[in-house]
Formats: sequence, structure tokens, C-alpha cells
Amino acid sequence: MDIEAIRSEALTCTKCRLAETRTQVVWADGSLDSEVCIIGEAPGFNEDKQGVPFVGAAGQLLDKLLAEIDLDRTQAAIVNVIKCRPPGNRDPQTDEIEACRPYLSAQLNYMRPEVIITLGNFATKFILDSPVGITRARGQVYARKGASIVPTFHPAAALRGGRFGGISTIDAMREDFRLVRNVLDERRAAAEARADTSTEFTAADGAEQLDFFG
Ligand code: URA
Repeated sequence: MDIEAIRSEALTCTKCRLAETRTQVVWADGSLDSEVCIIGEAPGFNEDKQGVPFVGAAGQLLDKLLAEIDLDRTQAAIVNVIKCRPPGNRDPQTDEIEACRPYLSAQLNYMRPEVIITLGNFATKFILDSPVGITRARGQVYARKGASIVPTFHPAAALRGGRFGGISTIDAMREDFRLVRNVLDERRAAAEARADTSTEFTAADGAEQLDFFG
């Protein structure tokens, strides 16, 4: 897949009304060659100005949570469900999410990530293809298209200082990020065990080429 060509196309996209109000398209940060993909909602004020996802206060909290599980931005791809800022940071509308779907789909199909962290309702519902909200979905790991999906709150919710199930939202996010660490470690150990025992290719190796949200 020519992901650079798709990125170039996205940068001049006019498929929805957000093209009229954005400063620029916000494609991704980190590396699309990582095992971990972090999906937010939409660029905010600072992201729209700088062209980079999660550079504001929510991004600083995200960096801190990543550091606590020994990850940083260079070891993950950071993307959003929609690539342009909605005016006044309003919620993305259904037709905007649909117009942008091919870009996130291309990013995921290119990456084939081991682990996907969904931040908040929009990313979680999009990836799990379910109406279940984040407060019910979080705290568990889901399997989709060969990836482990770990839903958690949006960092902006934690910054608002809420509480969830007797603990602060940020501590609930810490629990979810520990799940990410465990899943990554387990998947790496399983891959190493496979590499140790497999002496030749079998039909199963690499045969599955399912599309994400294609
Ligand atoms: N919130 C998001 O969901 N995405 C960003 O890039 C910034 C804030």
C-alpha cells in the first residue's frame, strides 16, 4: 500500500465541510511502523495550528501515561478518527466520520498494529463497531482483525477531574495502560515462542489479509 500517496491525498481533502474551517489536516504523529496505534477523536485548537495530534494539555497527559508503561511517541502511531478540527471543538458528525473513514482505515491496514488504544467514545465505538460507550467498554481487551483493542477514557475527560467507580478517571486510565503493557508483553513473548519453534512456513503464516474497516 502506498501510504504516502494516501497521506498526500488526505492533506488536500475536501470531502466534508471541515475542509472549509480547518487550518490544516492533522494526519499522524509517531510512526506508522509501530506495533501500537493510539486513536483519539479529532484535532483541537493546538493540533489544528501545529498539524500534529495531541500537542495540547491532553497530549501531555497522554505522554505521561505512555511513559509510565515505558513507551513514548516514537514507539506508537498517534492518529484521530477525523483528521480535521471541528469548529469550536464540537463533536464530530456522522457524515464527517464516514468521509474520513478511508484515511483511518488505510492507516490501520498499513500498520496492522498489535495493540490499538482507543481514547474516548468516538474512537472506541468506531473500532469496536458497537454503540457501547467508553465507561462500559473500558477495563477489558477486545480482539479485532488480529489486533488487541484496549479502550480507555479520553485524556480530556481525566483533565476535567472526573471520578469513575471510586477512583479518579486518571487512575482508571492508568489501569487501562497497564493492560496495554501486559498485552504487549504477552504478544511479544508469544511471537518469540513461535519464532523458536517454527522451522518452516505454514499456510497460516501471513495468509490472513483481512481488511480493517475497508
Ligand atoms: N483530542 C483528540 O482527540 N485528538 C487530538 O489530536 C487532540 C485532542
